Amino acid sequence: MAAHAHDSTAASTTVAEMTPLFDADTNARIAARLFEHIDNASCDLAPGPMLVDPAIYTDPDVACREQERIFDRAPVLAAHASELPNPDDFITVDLPGNRVLLVRQGDGAVRAFVNSCRHRGACLVDEQSGHRRVFSCGYHGWSYNCDGALRSVPYAQSFGPLDRSDYGLIELPCEQRYGFVWVIQRPGVPIDVSAWMGREMDEVLAGYHMEHFEMVRMSSFDEHMNWKVAEDAFVDGYHLKFVHPNSAGPYFYTNIQVVQELGRHMRAITPRKVIDQIRFSPHAPLDPFVTVGNFLMPNTTILRHSDHYETLTFVPHPTDPNRCRMDIRLIVPPITSDEEGALWDKNYDILVKTVIMEDLPLNTALQETLRGRGLKPLILGRNEMGNQVFHRFYDDLMATP
Ligand code: FES
Ligand SMILES: [Fe+2]
Repeated sequence: MAAHAHDSTAASTTVAEMTPLFDADTNARIAARLFEHIDNASCDLAPGPMLVDPAIYTDPDVACREQERIFDRAPVLAAHASELPNPDDFITVDLPGNRVLLVRQGDGAVRAFVNSCRHRGACLVDEQSGHRRVFSCGYHGWSYNCDGALRSVPYAQSFGPLDRSDYGLIELPCEQRYGFVWVIQRPGVPIDVSAWMGREMDEVLAGYHMEHFEMVRMSSFDEHMNWKVAEDAFVDGYHLKFVHPNSAGPYFYTNIQVVQELGRHMRAITPRKVIDQIRFSPHAPLDPFVTVGNFLMPNTTILRHSDHYETLTFVPHPTDPNRCRMDIRLIVPPITSDEEGALWDKNYDILVKTVIMEDLPLNTALQETLRGRGLKPLILGRNEMGNQVFHRFYDDLMATP
């Protein structure tokens, strides 16, 4: 899981100063619950164990159904707004349902287009990011404006009749909210990010004010595991001291989590061991003593630390259920000095190293074993409440025709 590592405080303005984690009542309630768990070596429990069919991680038919039932409908995190701050800035993002081109418009809105030329389908923009008024296709030179309109067709006379207004870029549903750009991978589906989040999670995310923060680092890793194997690993509070004995293990309590269902999403609060310092101060703010994971269906986690945010997005591979891409972003308060920047870099490198060296090899091997024949169901214990909630939400989405 990603309550991982780093304990240093880099920024002079902390996230906690900008946006308190909990109101006073919630703070007191969650603190009481955490200490009760610590004292009794208990944790939030699901009503019973849950069986999981291993085929959901490897079966290509399941992956196809996921695309239709989940990823054709759900808004997924595609960028932080600070990745394309100015009009005519663009970035490209590959999603399993479509390759996407995001462009900041003159009026400040972000629009999303299928990154494919309307002539014969060439990939229109290869670069990951940039600034451009006109996008020209490398194949036969068709060009498009930032709003997706077809601007010019070389040798138009000999090309023959063509109504240009019918050949603009295909637009995808796109909305900017909570400081992020969200996209639905299928054209024509209505998008309403706050409705997708539901009242409670909408309130949590709006309260974080991440639009005032900046994305300072981002990495993408192609991994040989199903996206749900990755999701399972990051929801998991049960593995910490076993998989991370020298990194996160010493700093966090293993197998202790408060798990809250917020609509179809989930918030998990994992205590750091230093929380013992406030055992007798029931009103002390929890922020520096916990890591909060906001697990947003279907595939994004926003981790709230006391001084920054991290986002993790597990993007299914378009054709192979045994692969996914992990996008990690580091989101921090506005940086005011080089020193601060260097500290964030160091923090980020520790996070990425922990995930890459400790979580990923184990889960790559796990994916290999799940491809075996004649396997029996896997089992999630009552203590693996976060994983159970994820699988229940997943099953609900998959069962919705
Ligand atoms: S495919 Fe783009 S101009 Fe021909
Ligand atoms: Fe982990």
